[in-house]
Amino acid sequence: RRVAVLGGGISHERDISLKSARQVADALAAHGVDVHLLDPDAALLPTLIADPPDVVWPALHGASGEDGALRALLEFLGIPYVGSASDATRLAWDKPTAKTIVARAGVPTPHSITLTRDAFRELGAESVLTVMNRELPPPLAVKPAQGGSAQGVSLVSSDEELRRAMVLAYTYCDVALVEERILGTEICIGIIDTGDGPVALPAVEIEPRSGVYGFEARYNAGETRFYAPARIADDVAARATESALAAHRALGLRHISRIDMMIDGAGTAWFLEASVMPGLTETSTLALALDAAGHDVGWVYAELAHAALR
Ligand code: DAL
Repeated sequence: RRVAVLGGGISHERDISLKSARQVADALAAHGVDVHLLDPDAALLPTLIADPPDVVWPALHGASGEDGALRALLEFLGIPYVGSASDATRLAWDKPTAKTIVARAGVPTPHSITLTRDAFRELGAESVLTVMNRELPPPLAVKPAQGGSAQGVSLVSSDEELRRAMVLAYTYCDVALVEERILGTEICIGIIDTGDGPVALPAVEIEPRSGVYGFEARYNAGETRFYAPARIADDVAARATESALAAHRALGLRHISRIDMMIDGAGTAWFLEASVMPGLTETSTLALALDAAGHDVGWVYAELAHAALR
């Protein structure tokens, strides 16, 4: 079987994707898989048509990789690929939509307000801040409604910070998500399905040195301490795992996902967002979780490629 690993692409997360793709390709090659790396650009379509691989492994993050567009193209070409189908991907990619779907499945998610850039301009920052203060008092998290790696995300506790955070979010996306900030323990739960149903990996706890798990804290060694498994009580971990699996199922995800959550002081796990192609770099939480579960990454990535062929 020939596996084409896609890495790079055109999103804000291009560099991370190149690292993830390298890890996936190396792990597959070490496992004896016939693998080649492709950086998707305008030549992708003719390349795939001229020399179609048996399976595509799209280690792409952000727009085009995680917004469903490239997956729809692969479906159109009839090339099997690892990961969620394009329609589920599109829903999970939009954070407000994902929150609505997951909340309907009974998993708590922080209260939030979404606001378009046009509405922000039309209403004016002052009246937006007045409404926010009434409806959703700080502390808050402000995020672009779509995007990954915490790019454009701010944690705010004052009006001035909120105004700046919204303007920053609009540089990444036309819609900003302003969300109640749950204080507590930040965890990620990776989910893998190699064909026998989704299985949750051990929860990974995130403790950024700066207190904020932003872009720098994610990708610079030593900036964040990770605990795999998370230092949370067994019953809390079990409930969080149930919620993560419920979120994965409610969103209709396939093969691989990562559910990011906050555990509050009462032990409740709050859904923040889902990643349909979580970071797979050496320091990414999914790699740590696979390791904590005693899995060989090459075996898991190869099994996912097999699952895509079924
Ligand atoms: N979007 C990055 C790669 C992540 O979720 O890990």
